[in-house]
Formats: sequence, C-alpha cells, structure tokens
Amino acid sequence: MIDSLRTARILVVGAGALGGVIAARLRASGRPVWIATRDAKTAATLRATGLHVSGVGGTLAVEVTEVAPLDAYQESDTFDVVVLATKAQEAMRVAPRLVRMLGSDGVLLPIQNGDVAQALAERVGSSQILGGLSNLGATMKEPGTYEQRNAGHLLIGELSGADTGRCERVREAMSGGVEVRVTANIRGAVWSKLLLNCSVTTIGAVAGRTMREYIALPLGRRLFDLAYDEALTVALAAGVHPQRMLVDPIPPGWSGRSVPGEAREAWLREILAFYGDVKPSMLQDFERGRPTEIDFINGHVADLGRTKGISTPANAAIVETVRAISRGELHPDPSLLGRTLDRFGGT
Ligand SMILES: NC(=O)c1ccc[n+]([C@@H]2O[C@H](COP(=O)([O-])OP(=O)(O)OC[C@H]3O[C@@H](n4cnc5c(N)ncnc54)[C@H](OP(=O)(O)O)[C@@H]3O)[C@@H](O)[C@H]2O)c1
Repeated sequence: MIDSLRTARILVVGAGALGGVIAARLRASGRPVWIATRDAKTAATLRATGLHVSGVGGTLAVEVTEVAPLDAYQESDTFDVVVLATKAQEAMRVAPRLVRMLGSDGVLLPIQNGDVAQALAERVGSSQILGGLSNLGATMKEPGTYEQRNAGHLLIGELSGADTGRCERVREAMSGGVEVRVTANIRGAVWSKLLLNCSVTTIGAVAGRTMREYIALPLGRRLFDLAYDEALTVALAAGVHPQRMLVDPIPPGWSGRSVPGEAREAWLREILAFYGDVKPSMLQDFERGRPTEIDFINGHVADLGRTKGISTPANAAIVETVRAISRGELHPDPSLLGRTLDRFGGT
C-alpha cells in the first residue's frame, strides 16, 4: 500500500511530450518525482535546463535534479507509482525491468495509445500493472520544453475491473499535479480510443490529411467505414465493452456492421466535431522519420482478429501501407487511400 499518499515515490519513464508535461506538473505540485530518460545526454540537458511547460493549464518552470537515464536506476530504487510514458514498442521492452523496481504494493501505469497494459500484463504476468490512457495532449518543442494542448486527464483502472482501491491511491498520489480519473472499464475506454486511432488517426496519416479532408473523398470514407467496423467487431468478439468517451463507440443501428443512414451521418459529424481538424500524430511520426506505433493500433486489431477468426483486411492493408511509408517507399497522399483498398480488392 502507498503509505503516505503525499510522499508516494513516483517515477516517470520517458520525458517526451506526455512524460515531460506530467513530470513537470507533478514536480510543480511538490510531489516527489523522479525521471528516467533514454540516455545520459537528455538527462544532463534536463538537469541543466529544468522543465518548462506552456499552453493549457498555465506556464511553469521547475528545476529537476532527480533525473537519470533508465539504465542508471537500480532495481533497489523502489517506487510506488511508475508512469510509463515511452512509445509502445519501448514500453514493452522496458516494462519487465520496471516491474522489478516497484515497491511491494507499487503499480506500473502504462499510458500509451493501444491495448499496451493488457499486452504487458499477459507478457510480464504481473498483477502490478494498471490500465491507463491519456486524454491529455502534449507536444515537445525540445527536451525540457513542452506544450500542453488541452485540459485533459489520465484515465486509469484495474484491468480486471475490480475495485482494489489502488487506482484511488494513484489518483490521490498525483492530485494537485495531474488530473487522474478512475474507471471500472479501462479496457473499454482504451478500445474506444483505439477504434478512433485505427481509423481517424492512421487513415489521416496515410492520406496526409485531416479526417475532415479525407472523409470527404469517397475512398477515404470507404476505408474509414471498413477499418472502424472491423476494429469494433474484433473488440466485441474479444469481450470488450467499448466505453463512451466523447462519442458513442458503437454507431447507431450497429448490427455487426455499420448501417448507412442519417443517424450514422450524425454520429460521424460528432466525431468530426472533436477530431476532424486534428493533424494525425502518426503523420508527425512520418515527418520526423520516427517509428510509428502501427503494430499496436491497426496491427493489434489485425492480430487479435486472427486469433478470433475475424477477417480484418482493411486494417491489415493499412498496416502494410504504413510500413511502406516508414520504409520510404511511399509518401502520405490521398492516392494511398485507393492503393490501400486495392490491396484487398476493397474499392
Ligand atoms: N503526446 C500526446 O499528446 C499523447 C496523447 C495520448 C497518448 N499518447 C501516447 O503516449 C505515449 C508517449 O507519447 P509522446 O508523444 O510523449 O512520445 P514522445 O514525445 O516520443 O516521448 C517518448 C519519450 O520516451 C523516451 N524513451 C524512449 N525509450 C526510453 C527508455 N528506454 N527509457 C526512458 N525513456 C525512453 C524518448 O526518448 P528519445 O526521444 O530520446 O528516444 C521520448 O522522450 C505514446 O504511446 C503515445 O501514443 C501521447
């Protein structure tokens, strides 16, 4: 159990966009927070410059001394809460080591997009992993300088859905710094976000356009419908109950596939109102030459679909297109919508 909530030792792993904002706001609220970076150079930079946050939630600047590359932490350096804020691939790699750095009742909180916490719990086999996602949006200008993009929060929950009191303790341990909300259906929430990530975000990245732009194209609309329907079918087959977030994850009239009509158009307009003009984060990954998290988004839908005997050709084709873009063989463009559909005769 976290003995004293105000003095719970919190380690933030990954001082990128999200981890930087979280660490800075926790530090500014007086929480004992440590930071683990990927390398010594970034740790030295953060020690020299401190952390600076601008944007929604107000400007702040804090000094940080407790920052070191992850490799420099010992397994005897135990923590009550480890916030895992790297990208998904790296989260899978470093999690086993982080679990060994938890105090007896400590918890690991992955906040990646995708079903990462569930995958970690299955791979690492630890009961010390909580589910989590971030509705907080952030960008990093350079190491130590971040912008908070919205007034979002972290949503956390036990993967089993049980009420163990651990989530409330994490919420309390981080309160004053970062808003944390607790849900009894974290997998449902994670999948609601995943449904949008594998349609809104990935297709936008492939087309090099916002959702509002690509959905106006007949082939963009077709790919969206197919990818969303496949992902929702897989989620339901896996026993997930997608939880309403900003929009209802289950389109009106859903009958195993989307039903065309005015109700569905209204549902789509709701999605557009929230996400229509956002530049897809995966497009930014392409532009910066960084690895994407495609294997944890559309790739996960296709993999899970395979184990459930559900065909997911649209999601599998999107994965292939994204991989080709990452290899530099293709470039984000609306013409890739038709090319992706052609991979499985979907036009
Ligand atoms: N940013 C958002 O608004 C947002 C919103 C919702 C969800 N998410 C999710 O949150 C996760 C993080 O996103 P992000 O935008 O913060 O990514 P990011 O800016 O790329 O940050 C990831 C950070 O992790 C660091 N890192 C990599 N390997 C590490 C290691 N072994 N030990 C310690 N640190 C390591 C990276 O350092 P290097 O740069 O040196 O490799 C980088 O600073 C992603 O899964 C994303 O999908 C982000």
